[in-house]
Amino acid sequence: MRVVLGVSGGIAAYKAALLLRLLSEAGHEVTVVPTAAALRFVGEPTWAALSGRPVATDVWTDVHEVPHVRLGQSADLVVVAPATADLLARAAAGMADDLLTNTLLTARCPVVMAPAMHTEMWEHPATQANVETLTQRGVHVVPPAAGRLTGADSGPGRLPEPEHLFEVCQRELARADRVTRTSGARQDLVGTRVLVTAGGTREPLDPVRFLGNRSSGKQGVALAAAARRRGAIVTLVLAHAEVPPPPDVEVVRAGSALELAAATRAALPSHDVVVMAAAVADFRPDAYVETKIKKSYDTEDEEPGPTIRLVRNPDILAGLVAERGEATDPLIVGFAAETGDEDGTVLEHGRTKLERKGCDLLVVNEVGIDKAFGQDENSVVILRRGVENPVAEVGPAGKAAIADAVLDAILDARRRRG
Ligand code: CTP
Repeated sequence: MRVVLGVSGGIAAYKAALLLRLLSEAGHEVTVVPTAAALRFVGEPTWAALSGRPVATDVWTDVHEVPHVRLGQSADLVVVAPATADLLARAAAGMADDLLTNTLLTARCPVVMAPAMHTEMWEHPATQANVETLTQRGVHVVPPAAGRLTGADSGPGRLPEPEHLFEVCQRELARADRVTRTSGARQDLVGTRVLVTAGGTREPLDPVRFLGNRSSGKQGVALAAAARRRGAIVTLVLAHAEVPPPPDVEVVRAGSALELAAATRAALPSHDVVVMAAAVADFRPDAYVETKIKKSYDTEDEEPGPTIRLVRNPDILAGLVAERGEATDPLIVGFAAETGDEDGTVLEHGRTKLERKGCDLLVVNEVGIDKAFGQDENSVVILRRGVENPVAEVGPAGKAAIADAVLDAILDARRRRG
């Protein structure tokens, strides 16, 4: 397997040489990416000799091979050991000021980071916040060991033993390999950048209350997982959900409709496909009350209670279609939760909505208290703009099977557009 070993500038860099040896002996092709500071601790010849490969030190060498994106894109695992406080901060901020941080931004494989630093630096809220951010994005952060540090002092901050880090790397590689193998033969979305929104938004009312909805997020999360299994590079903009995000996708948390709108809009230009599976509140309280709304204790009489005025949220899906303008990319997919009524059937309402929103595909499902929301089985009809009949009817089926059918319809629509 292809492993990138990132080394940042700490005294524990010498231990990374042992980790390199273990990874190489296990048969992995290891490319070492030391930062400039790391090279002051352990020099390039050591890394080259132990890995048997050229050492990648900066973005300006072998530019014709575009190393700043190639290394990350083609890696099966990126492990950073030691990860200094500075490296964690740069990675958490999404900076790309050297080859290692470029590689971290382009990697779509599992990422392991092993922080090592003095106890004060490790315990500092800034470092802890950066670790939290990275963990939320799916990075496997191996906590530092406690013990003797560089000087006379001791405490948590030591790089764990190379044997332990090696085991963590092997486990991550085995897990990623299992995901690829159990995904079956279909790897038809390799290189496609898919943005999925999922979950239900929560519209804040005061510091303790919100207006929410019954969405569990299961279908959207299943879509993100299926797209990833089929090889896509996936960003999941996740509102409130009852299920955790799948591994190996970039997760952007969004609470309210306005947050989800901002996150989705920002991500639009860098994706080939956008799937709006989130249940976005159409309305929000017109004002957020900064302090908790209290009931009155002054009167024995029944208090009428406060009135909540609602205002419209933007229609995010329609906004994305408008933002795309004349361009054909990205392909935009909407979801419609419908009930039949005297004005039309579920399908008729779906067709009208597809026209109104102007998206390319619309996944229509029938909802009711016990239908679709939170259930593990679902039935959907997929409509394509400009095509009278549904392009697919699926279910009742599990949400993973529905997700695969939606992805098939997306591939088909993209092929037809050429
Ligand atoms: N959607 C959105 N922004 C909103 C509301 C909905 O982007 N403010 C998206 C949803 O993510 C979904 C699609 O629009 O992909 C359809 O949502 P739905 O709630 O069924 O439709 P509405 O536009 O709310 O229409 P109606 O209330 O008439 O059913």
